[in-house]
Amino acid sequence: MVQDLICEADAATIARGAELLGEGQLVAFPTETVYGLGADATNGAAVAAIFAAKDRPRINPLIVHIRDKAEAETHVIFSEAASRLAEAFWPGPLTLVLPRRTHTPLSLLVSAGLETVAVRAPSHPLARALIAAAGFPLAAPSANPSGSVSPTTARHVAEGLGRRVAMILDGGATPVGVESTVIGFSSQGSALMLRPGGVPREAIEKIVGPLAVPASGGPVTSPGQLSSHYAPRARLRLNATETVPGEVLLGFGSIENAALNLSRKGDLSEAAANLFAMLRALDTEAAAIAVSPIPEHGLGEAINDRLQRAAAPRP
Ligand code: TXA
Ligand code: MG
Repeated sequence: MVQDLICEADAATIARGAELLGEGQLVAFPTETVYGLGADATNGAAVAAIFAAKDRPRINPLIVHIRDKAEAETHVIFSEAASRLAEAFWPGPLTLVLPRRTHTPLSLLVSAGLETVAVRAPSHPLARALIAAAGFPLAAPSANPSGSVSPTTARHVAEGLGRRVAMILDGGATPVGVESTVIGFSSQGSALMLRPGGVPREAIEKIVGPLAVPASGGPVTSPGQLSSHYAPRARLRLNATETVPGEVLLGFGSIENAALNLSRKGDLSEAAANLFAMLRALDTEAAAIAVSPIPEHGLGEAINDRLQRAAAPRP
């Protein structure tokens, strides 16, 4: 482990992090969802270093983190629906995929060949302080090797990426625990759910009405939808009510014999916050993990999405 990379976040370490980013280096930082692997989004070499550090396919575009909607408007074009969503949920765990402005200084690599950019204003105070200190937007995917479980602590980042990152700002465990909800728009302007996440579908539908599902079979609209992802080494079996020999149980609600319980009181926010750390913990204990059924409403949709990808056949 590379403990020396982990720095308790304070004014001095945030300033140092901003300086490293300015030099084109990679700095991991906490957001309210998961830890991000940050780089100067206007520096092509720095953005390329993110893809190399994560071993991420170059066709998978990155989220650009900005302070607020005014800053986002310098890079992308908001529709009326997109504006209402940003006003309702920013800063917070919502990402909007919007048409790229021709003259934005953002590196073309963040879009991975698409004509759109994903933008998000995080609410975590350390993420906000780092973006402000840097003075440029930060491209930041989750700070884990591509395909593995996302990090919710600084230690998870160090375990996964080690010296591929120059510094890890430690802000403790991330409060939401699943990544942001990614919303795109069809050519007719209707809002599409590209990835369920920290803002529940119900909250978004209150603002823009029913979300459409992206057309399947067509080109991949959000490459993060590629099915196997978030995979621990252990095999996963979902909607399990009991274990078979060789399995440990990841429980939810008032269930007996669980090795770990996502939320004994059946609270989906608590379950989301615990999900990735508990998958990691059980991964070291058994060859197979059985998971209790999780309701599909609220944050349950994002939790079930991550579990289904973790259980999907590996490439
Ligand atoms: O909560 C989060 O979103 C975290 C924190 C660090 O902000 N970031 C994160 O990034 O989860 P990443 O790279 O692991 O996931 C970004 C997702 C991927 O599914 C990617 O395909 C999609 O957003 N995405 C990014 N840009 C896109 C674009 N222009 N069009 C469609 N999908 C896009
Ligand atoms: Mg990720």
